[in-house]
Amino acid sequence: MDWTSHHMEVIPVSGTLKMHEIAMKMEREDKKVYHFEVGQPDFSTPQNIIDAAIKAMNEGKTRYVSSRGVPELLDAIQYMYEKRNIEVNGKTNVIVTPGAKMSLFGGILSTIDSGDDVLLLSPAWPTYKTMIRMAGGKPVDVPTSPGYVLDEEDLKDKVGREVSAIVINSPNNPTGGVLTKDHLKLIYDLAIDHKFMVFSDEIYESLVYDGFTQNSMLEVDPEMEVTLCISGFSKNYAMTGWRIGYAVGSPSVINNLVRVQQNTTSCAASFVQYAGVEAIMGDQSSIDMMRNAYQERRDMTQSLFSEIADIECLNPMGAFYVFPDFSNYGLSSSTLAELLLKKTGVSTVPGIEFGHHYDDHLRFSYAASPNDIEEGIPAMGKFLETLR
Ligand SMILES: Cc1ncc(COP(=O)(O)O)c(C=O)c1O
Repeated sequence: MDWTSHHMEVIPVSGTLKMHEIAMKMEREDKKVYHFEVGQPDFSTPQNIIDAAIKAMNEGKTRYVSSRGVPELLDAIQYMYEKRNIEVNGKTNVIVTPGAKMSLFGGILSTIDSGDDVLLLSPAWPTYKTMIRMAGGKPVDVPTSPGYVLDEEDLKDKVGREVSAIVINSPNNPTGGVLTKDHLKLIYDLAIDHKFMVFSDEIYESLVYDGFTQNSMLEVDPEMEVTLCISGFSKNYAMTGWRIGYAVGSPSVINNLVRVQQNTTSCAASFVQYAGVEAIMGDQSSIDMMRNAYQERRDMTQSLFSEIADIECLNPMGAFYVFPDFSNYGLSSSTLAELLLKKTGVSTVPGIEFGHHYDDHLRFSYAASPNDIEEGIPAMGKFLETLR
């Protein structure tokens, strides 16, 4: 018997799984694998955050809580935006979910109708496409210029057709590019004129480098007329396994997400939410340390790439990824990724995962260990010489 439902037709097997399986097999055979594929910090969660979770558990904060989130965390999120001069009411504009992923899914599920076109500013994190399809929508790529630079004319052209939403992600996974405030404003103006929602995934918001600051979509849409802003703790605070994120939007959009949450996960784990309060309100020195470390790793990655001929690799402004262009090698991204893994141990994500325009790119996460960066990239460079 095959128990697979029709819903599964839109849920792909992760394209990185094949790579992951090869990598695991190599490691079982004691072969060195350089892990550039994983999009998660290699730091542990700061101790003060761990202690706050343990304290909350010891205090009995282990029960169901409100589907919106615990008041202390909703207040802390309000405070965090206030510090950036963004007015958010924790009681009505915020929901806390198990990971940013659930905020996104709730937002998409409660907004998109079957058959709706949803624009995806690409390259785009593969999960968006799957979620849009799970909600019955049709993802439509809006490719950007290298470095995630908005192509204004293409976007204007695409909103000419009926669309119900756009998904943007700045700082961007996989390019590390950051949208300018002018481009955010343009997206807002188009959304108002053409009546579509903007899902703004800002999960990498505090990982920007060179003294640069990221602009939130909430700065150009302070009334939250069209914006659902999504963020979380996974990347900024090295809390990927804790599963905690949040969404900020108008009361009516947030109420819809609350309904989705009430009927699915109920709430984000209660003691994890108190850890989230500590993450925002507590000592920030380990957060600054991690950001500085990523900046150093980005610089190291960039300089090692510049020594490899025939690869174009832009300097990312944020997040912790580079997305170099390997088109000079004339191989598909899956073929190249598999070859690099088998021949050099360098494990990456094929560009095709981020949109069909990107089959000559590979994504590297420099949240990898400095040792992997220092050894892995030159090893790859040496092997690439044999392909030229
Ligand atoms: C762009 C982007 N958004 C959201 C997420 C998921 O975040 P969370 O762990 O909070 O669900 C990721 C994780 O890789 C991501 O890269």
